[in-house]
Amino acid sequence: MVMKHFDRRKFFKICGSYIAALSAAPPASAATASAARLYNPVLLTRNGNPMGARDFEVGQVYIFHYPYVTTPCIIFNLGESTDAQYQLTTEAGQRYAWTGGIGPQRSIVAYSAICSHRMTYPAKSASFLNYRHSKVVFFDENRTRQEKNKIIYCCSERSVYDPTEGARVIGGPAPQPLASIQLQYSDRDDSISAIGTTGGELFEQFLDKFEFRLQLDFKVVDVAQQTVEQVELQTIEEFTDIVVHC
Ligand code: FES
Repeated sequence: MVMKHFDRRKFFKICGSYIAALSAAPPASAATASAARLYNPVLLTRNGNPMGARDFEVGQVYIFHYPYVTTPCIIFNLGESTDAQYQLTTEAGQRYAWTGGIGPQRSIVAYSAICSHRMTYPAKSASFLNYRHSKVVFFDENRTRQEKNKIIYCCSERSVYDPTEGARVIGGPAPQPLASIQLQYSDRDDSISAIGTTGGELFEQFLDKFEFRLQLDFKVVDVAQQTVEQVELQTIEEFTDIVVHC
């Protein structure tokens, strides 16, 4: 059963990488192209209707599951434009470019919500990983006390990511940025679709490690089913019983 899942994921990953390589015009570099993967294009919805970029309240965190029905992502409106390009590196040494948010102000960003340290994630019972729009205290890579707003904080071992710069690591033991979710914005109807990922994915390890728990939580046998057509957003407060703040 597990082998079947892995074979299929590898198949989609190979297809995604191939399509990404074909559609990059021109790729910034071989390393950049290889860190981007296309999955099913999926429309983001709220209460069954398309979620418009203008419907995002600044600072409100939403959870959705992509590219698999059990792999969590977070999406939120930073309230500031993020149109700069940042060069990031995965733990394996792959370089890639993060090109900012989407929407009218380019302020909406989405990331895989699987911490790159030990894969803590927002579960239905509790979420130890969250976006913090207000100022919080943390310790940077030099163990120096910092205060900063607009960070992603994993309270397990206190890894901190900067979502305004592609979720690069700014504190704690995380070895690489969170993978970012590639979003496509339609000016015509304000809709948003998820189309792929960029950066260091942890999906295989995640699905392998948490398969049994995910089967129970999502009432599915195949935790590696890909998300198709549309995916519902829930606020983090709706999705999880306890939102842990640290
Ligand atoms: S799992 Fe997130 S900091 Fe350890």
